[in-house]
This record gives sequence, C-alpha cells and structure tokens, in this order.
Amino acid sequence: MRLNRWFSLLLLAWTVLGHARINSPPIRSPGGDLVTACGQASFNAIERDPTGFIEEQVPFNAACEPTLCRGMLFSDQPTENIQVVTPGQSMEMSIDCTIPHGGPANVSLVDTTTDGAGTIIGSFLKTFDDFCPKPGPAPLDQTSLQFTLPSAAEIGTRCENPGDCVVQLFWATPDLAQNYYYCVDVSFGADTSTGLPATGRLEAAPATSGAARRFGFLWF
Ligand SMILES: *[C@@H]1O[C@H](CO)[C@@H](O)[C@H](O)[C@H]1NC(C)=O
Repeated sequence: MRLNRWFSLLLLAWTVLGHARINSPPIRSPGGDLVTACGQASFNAIERDPTGFIEEQVPFNAACEPTLCRGMLFSDQPTENIQVVTPGQSMEMSIDCTIPHGGPANVSLVDTTTDGAGTIIGSFLKTFDDFCPKPGPAPLDQTSLQFTLPSAAEIGTRCENPGDCVVQLFWATPDLAQNYYYCVDVSFGADTSTGLPATGRLEAAPATSGAARRFGFLWF
C-alpha cells in the first residue's frame, strides 16, 4: 500500500516535470484549433506538460498530425512568437533537460504546407545520438543548441509566409516509446530567391529587432 502510494507520487512527478523544456525561442502552444483538429485529450495533455510526449495525447481525432508539432497549429499561435529569420542564419535554442533519458534527437526546418508530417527542407540541421543523456548533466551543445538554417538555394520560395515552416526538434526515446516534438514558427522575411527584402511584411521589423533578440537569436 505504502509502496503504491509512493509509486503514484513518483508517476505524478514524472508527468508534471516533463522532459526537455525549451526556454527560448517560444515554441508552439495549444489552442482552440488544436482541440478541433486533435481533440480535447491533446489539449489537456499539452497544457498539463508542455514538454511531454505525443503518446500522452491519445485518443487523437482523425484530422490530427501528432508527428508535426504534436498536432499544434499555426492558427493558435500569437503573432509575436513568429521568429523572422534569414537563410543561413545561426539560431540557438536554450534547453533544460528536466527529465533526462537519452535517445536520438535532431533539428530540422520543416515545410508544414505539404501533407502529413510535413517535409524536411535541406538536411538535418543538427543530430544527436544521445539527447539529454542519463545521467546528466547534458552537454553544452544540447542545452545551448546552436544550428544554422538552410541556404537560400535550399529554401527557395518556401517559408515566406508565417505558418508555412517551423524549426522542429524531434527527440525519441525508443526504450520508453516516447516521441517529443518541439516547434518554433519561423518566417523568412525576405524573398529568398532574390535575396531582396520583402516589402510590407507584417512583423519583419519589430520581430528581428526586439522579439527575436529577446528570445535568444544569434545574429552573425
Ligand atoms: C532523428 O530523430 C529521430 C527521433 O529520435 C530518429 O528516429 C531518427 O533516426 C533521427 N534521424 C537522424 C538522421 O538523426
């Protein structure tokens, strides 16, 4: 009895604490359109643990794409969270491994406008054989995860519209059958095919100067 009680407390702690917390830039969050696409269980699970894994979100509605941003949709995101970026730019994610348990992970720029889980643009921007390894502490190149966005040639005319592309950190722990997806909305505020800045693009100016810097961007 005592042991059971202790065990459920442990389980509770597990659920509450989560696994890898992205401190910056801001990641996609749940909202009303997620409920419509994926169901209330997804919304509740993500609200309860923004760092959690998709297997906690069942059951899914048929329209849900859990393997793209945990099913979270651009339409639920506040505009100020969109990171306005340029091809070839360096970015950094600040991460706390709140419950380290290892497993492969990678970062990619994903075109979300194609069907299903989207399409990776270019190659993986970073890969790890053992992410948030156990025992900790995690290596600095994981907690200050730096990577370079694909080139203008690789991106082409994709990702110009906010909502089209995300930087996604995908982490799986095969031993535990847990899959994690953390998404940052990015918009390339310039016509990448010509290298000319786009005119009249909504959040280009404020986001690059204020928000993007505040959320941990590196400008090289
Ligand atoms: C990317 O990460 C996923 C999740 O852990 C893994 O299954 C896949 O093999 C990784 N791919 C690469 C190229 O690192």
